[in-house]
Amino acid sequence: MSDTVPAHGNRDETGREREDDSVTRRKFFKVVIGVTAFLNGLILGIPFLRAIINPAPLQKLSYTEVGDIGSLPIGEPQDMNFAMRSGDAYRHEEVIHSVWVVKHSPAEVTVFSPICTHLGCHYKWNPQAGHFECPCHGSVFTITGKVIGGPAPRPLDTLPHKLEKGKLFVEWERFKVGVSEKVRA
Ligand code: FES
Repeated sequence: MSDTVPAHGNRDETGREREDDSVTRRKFFKVVIGVTAFLNGLILGIPFLRAIINPAPLQKLSYTEVGDIGSLPIGEPQDMNFAMRSGDAYRHEEVIHSVWVVKHSPAEVTVFSPICTHLGCHYKWNPQAGHFECPCHGSVFTITGKVIGGPAPRPLDTLPHKLEKGKLFVEWERFKVGVSEKVRA
């Protein structure tokens, strides 16, 4: 009588074949999981890569039309709102911003960011007093943006702009608040 155990299913007398099958299946599942993870990463990573490779739409400043300045009074600051598209590689949205515009002549204006340089509140023009006032901590600025009262550490921030055919275009940007230097945020 032989003492060899007969083969059963995928198993030989030493059990070797079943073990090989098991190893093969594990390898197969590892490959499938790896490929799936890679494809998921690729799909999710495309917008991220696009943002890195081509960051221009996110970071480059561009002029946005604010409006017609023809009817603005000279020497009297005006609060002007405008819509600006913003977003990232995943979504886009339209955001309403405002700027303070001081018209000196039909061809010359100063544009101020509406954000107080102290801690970021929105200040207002006081026509009776003839200066800008911040309601939060009482900073006061002249029509040229100079600090004449309160804790603001620097003058109002001006924004790059241009005039074309009577229309004002502004490069919207934010600056750090609470610091004496005008540094882009
Ligand atoms: S935020 Fe304007 S004075 Fe403080």
